[in-house]
Amino acid sequence: MEYQIRLAKEADAKAVHDIYGAYVPLDYVTFTVENPDIESYRRKIITALEKYPFLIAEDDEGKVLGYVYGSALRPHDAYQWNVEWTIVLAHDAPKRCGIATALYREFAAILEKQGYRYIYGVIVDTNEASLEFHKSLGFREVGHFENAGFKLGAWRGIRWLVKQIGTDDGEPKKPLRLSEVIGESIRSEIL
Ligand SMILES: CC(C)(COP(=O)(O)OP(=O)(O)OC[C@H]1O[C@@H](n2cnc3c(N)ncnc32)[C@H](O)[C@@H]1OP(=O)(O)O)[C@@H](O)C(=O)NCCC(=O)NCCS
Repeated sequence: MEYQIRLAKEADAKAVHDIYGAYVPLDYVTFTVENPDIESYRRKIITALEKYPFLIAEDDEGKVLGYVYGSALRPHDAYQWNVEWTIVLAHDAPKRCGIATALYREFAAILEKQGYRYIYGVIVDTNEASLEFHKSLGFREVGHFENAGFKLGAWRGIRWLVKQIGTDDGEPKKPLRLSEVIGESIRSEIL
């Protein structure tokens, strides 16, 4: 299937809201219980793009098939080289044909240019597809928090997986902002 990967823009908020929202009633993909409104997603896109890639995969007709974005692992300064990622394909997007892997590759390449070192995935422990997907990319499991969340009448755990994307020898430089890697002109076009 033909698709392109591009940076997200504010106007993608509704598509992202709808794609994520379709998973919210299911227990095994997200711990979100109520899907935030479209405005929250608009702000999420703008905030993410300050520091991290937010990428969209879309088909030839401009339909959003999936997305990936980064966020801070923890707020304290010493964690700043870590990125927690979120990757989601639409319910009706074709699976097992490499779209999420392609999103990952673009995402990780940009993060590496920015100077980030580790990508963390936090996965509900019953989400076999996501666990296998992470392992296929070379993520390794570093933690299992049993019964971390209660949703739809049951306690569920989460597994933490990590992948190193840069070398951690010597003192790291502060990660570059996204605009320093992709160019301010592109950024002003998308927002
Ligand atoms: C998990 C998800 C992102 C995978 O997307 P995808 O485009 O189908 O993944 P890819 O085609 O790039 O798969 C790459 C590899 O991951 C593994 N994999 C992906 N889906 C799998 C599944 N359902 N079962 C087992 N392995 C799977 C396989 O090793 C696969 O390679 P292969 O197809 O050659 O065997 C997608 O299923 C999804 O969006 N699920 C719902 C949302 C979600 O769970 N997001 C992650 C939250 S932590």
